[in-house]
Amino acid sequence: MKVFALLLALMVALPAAAEPTPAEVQKIMQRDFHPRGQATMERLAQDGVQRVCTETRDRPPAEVTKALEADQMKTITYPQGSLMGDWKRGETIAQSGRGLTWNDKAGEAGGGSCYNCHELSPQEFSHGTIGPSLRGFGKTRGAGADLQRYVYGKIYNAKAYNLCSQMPRLGLSGTLTPEQIKDLVALLLDPASPVNQ
Ligand code: HEC
Repeated sequence: MKVFALLLALMVALPAAAEPTPAEVQKIMQRDFHPRGQATMERLAQDGVQRVCTETRDRPPAEVTKALEADQMKTITYPQGSLMGDWKRGETIAQSGRGLTWNDKAGEAGGGSCYNCHELSPQEFSHGTIGPSLRGFGKTRGAGADLQRYVYGKIYNAKAYNLCSQMPRLGLSGTLTPEQIKDLVALLLDPASPVNQ
């Protein structure tokens, strides 16, 4: 009982620390971010979509979400012909976390960092869980033209489908080339890909 009373007294005496304002957060980030190579201070500037998501804690009003997703959808450009590349190259791209970091060369194609957030091939058991498992994706969802278009678009600009998605916009940002995105489409959808075994 005594301990409880003491705790209660402490809770009253020590009010919860006030949350920093957005301006204070910006100041701290400006102070602690060290520009190097192609990773310049511009990295700290949010675009309109990111700002809306930050300001609404990822819950913008439905009509705002709909309008901004439609805008994001317009940024996706599809290459001519088949969207299915080579799943073997796709696996290497999914494994690689390179691209747009300070010690990558500007303009050089990067990797997808897919395993940072997703489970894909069963052979790779080290993966993150921020995103859903993509194991058996093509087997369960199909691999037809519509699915190919969806997966290509999702990788190109995830926010076109889910405005405040944590998934990076890998095509729009220039991290991945159209050719690389096609290889990732094959990794997810090709029946021969380890993802679908
Ligand atoms: C920083 C984490 C992150 C990275 C990196 C990431 N994703 Fe995602 N991904 C997510 C999250 C979170 C979702 C679920 C929310 C959503 O749909 O936006 C998602 C959703 C998806 C979906 C839709 C799943 C469905 O059921 O329709 C696909 C496909 C996908 N990711 C593929 C990929 C591929 C391929 C890569 C690598 C090029 C990748 N992701 C990289 C976080 C990530």
